[in-house]
Amino acid sequence: MAGFAAAAALAALGGRAQGLRAQPGAARMQPVGVIGAGHIGGTIGGLWVQAGHPVLFSSRHPDELRPLAQAGSVAQAIAFADVVLLAVPYKALPEIARDYGRALSGKVVIDATNAFRERDGDAGALALRDGIGITTARFLPGARVVRAFNFMAAAAFASESHHAGEPVAVPIAGDDPQALRVAKQLVRDAGFEPVVVGGRASADSFAPGGPLFHQIGSAQAMRERIARLPNPAGAR
Ligand SMILES: NC(=O)c1ccc[n+]([C@@H]2O[C@H](COP(=O)([O-])OP(=O)(O)OC[C@H]3O[C@@H](n4cnc5c(N)ncnc54)[C@H](OP(=O)(O)O)[C@@H]3O)[C@@H](O)[C@H]2O)c1
Repeated sequence: MAGFAAAAALAALGGRAQGLRAQPGAARMQPVGVIGAGHIGGTIGGLWVQAGHPVLFSSRHPDELRPLAQAGSVAQAIAFADVVLLAVPYKALPEIARDYGRALSGKVVIDATNAFRERDGDAGALALRDGIGITTARFLPGARVVRAFNFMAAAAFASESHHAGEPVAVPIAGDDPQALRVAKQLVRDAGFEPVVVGGRASADSFAPGGPLFHQIGSAQAMRERIARLPNPAGAR
C-alpha cells in the first residue's frame, strides 16, 4: 500500500528509473535518501526528483518501487547520501535507531514524522511527552536532525508546491546551523519557502495540535504567527 502511494506520487510527479548510486552533476545537485516511500516520502522525494536531485527511495519491498525511481533497502538509502528524509510512522523509530542509528550518525536527517498515541505506541507517547524534535534526536544521537515537511498533509504538499505568486511557507526546526541550511535549500527546491521556527524544542509548535500545524500561507504570515507564540524560539 505504501509502495503504491509512493509509486502514484512519483508517477504524478514524473519519477524516473536510474541506478543505485548518486551521480555527481550540477553544482546544486543534492542527493537524498528517503526512508519510507509512502505518502509523505513519495511526495516530497518526488518533488526533489522533479527539481533534478538524485533520490533513492527505500522500502522493505523495493521491487514495488523499482519501475518508477531509484529504489533500495533502508541501508542503501542511508548509504546513498549525506542527507536523509525520514518519513516512517513514529512507531518505527526504535527499530530504525537500533538497526541504522550508527549509519545515520553525522547525516542530516530531515524528520517529517508525526507522532500519534494510538498509532505509534511507546515511541509516540515519548514524543508527545518530551517533544518530537527532542525525542527523534534522542533516538538518533549523532544525526543532525531537522524537523520539516510534517505540518500539513502529503496531498497539500503536492498541490501547494511552487504555488503561483508567493510560495507557501514550510516551518522547520533544528539545532545544527549547517543542517538547517541544507534543509532550507531542499524546502525551496520542493517549491516552498522555509521558515525556521527555532531549535528542535520548538518543533511541537508545528506538529499536530500545535498552533502552526496546517497553517498554510506565506512566509510573512508564518513569521507573524511565530512572533505571537508565547516562546517562539524555544520549548512548547
Ligand atoms: N501522510 C501525510 O499526509 C503526512 C503528513 C505529514 C507527516 N506525515 C508523517 O510522515 C510519516 C509517514 O507517513 P505516511 O503517511 O507517508 O505513511 P505511509 O504512506 O504508510 O508510508 C510509511 C512508509 O514507512 C515505511 N516503514 C514503515 N515501517 C518501517 C520500518 N520499521 N522501517 C523502515 N521503513 C518503514 C513503509 O515502508 P515499506 O514499503 O517498507 O512498508 C512506508 O514506505 C508518519 O510519521 C506521518 O505521521 C504524514
